[in-house]
Amino acid sequence: MSIVSASDILNKATKGGYAVGAFNITSIMQMQAVIEAAAGLKAPVIIQTSESPAKMIGPEVIAAAYRELASRAGIPVVLHLDHSTDVDFCKRCIDAGYTNIMIDASSHPYDDNVRITKEVVDYAREKGGVTVEGELGTVSGVEDQVIVAENDSVLCDPDLGISFSKATGIDLLAPAIGTAHGVYKTENPKIDVARMRAIRTKADEAGMELPLVIHGGTGLSEGIVKRLIAAGGSKYNVSTELKYAWIDGAAAFTAQKPLVYNPNKLMQSQMDASAAVVIKWIKILGSEGKGGSNA
Ligand code: 13P
Repeated sequence: MSIVSASDILNKATKGGYAVGAFNITSIMQMQAVIEAAAGLKAPVIIQTSESPAKMIGPEVIAAAYRELASRAGIPVVLHLDHSTDVDFCKRCIDAGYTNIMIDASSHPYDDNVRITKEVVDYAREKGGVTVEGELGTVSGVEDQVIVAENDSVLCDPDLGISFSKATGIDLLAPAIGTAHGVYKTENPKIDVARMRAIRTKADEAGMELPLVIHGGTGLSEGIVKRLIAAGGSKYNVSTELKYAWIDGAAAFTAQKPLVYNPNKLMQSQMDASAAVVIKWIKILGSEGKGGSNA
């Protein structure tokens, strides 16, 4: 039960009224820190890589490390490719052993988004055991190579969200609801919780087991996160906060111990900082204890 596709754990989370943390990592050591932190809380977890780190490390290397770390973890662990705009790279990650793929064709006109997304879904089906996330509307901010200005962001129309999911056959939908990648510029960003609820209701009415993804997790308040989960979101993405933890963890170490040239100790401080982020979010998302063998 360690290597799983996203649908396996997210349909359970949707029914159970909690969300699973999906954490963007940029190194193998950070992957280890995230998996160990989740295992300590017996929480299911999703490891995500954006395109740049995945291309830099290599999806085959990432997937091999994932298989080894997940098989010892004793909790369900998903390996997800995040916001890929490159269909060939999605296919390479499927071949390498990723268990969930996000093809982000949301910047294209609707019909092209359907066509591109469906190509990845068809490939995943052919291989088997791999689920696919698609996006409708656009999430503002910066996530790797995907850059959307706030004025250009478009929210997801609930009916179109359902038609898009049916036309493409995606397993998970990322609907744009006003969240943003990166650090929020205001203390109270306008998040459309009602839109999330409307999409969940329409999916349920259509008899679709369609987990809904909350992008832009860094910086949202606990209150709004809980409302989004109650409205039907079950995958919660955190990226920026983990990048800060990794870099600030190193900066704090070198500031406190300027003469300690020990890479293991340096990396341990980065891993500890990353683990603290993961533990905080798992507790907020309500997934603690949901990944044990009896959960
Ligand atoms: P943040 O960078 O705001 O945490 O967003 C993460 C995300 O949605 C990745 O897809």
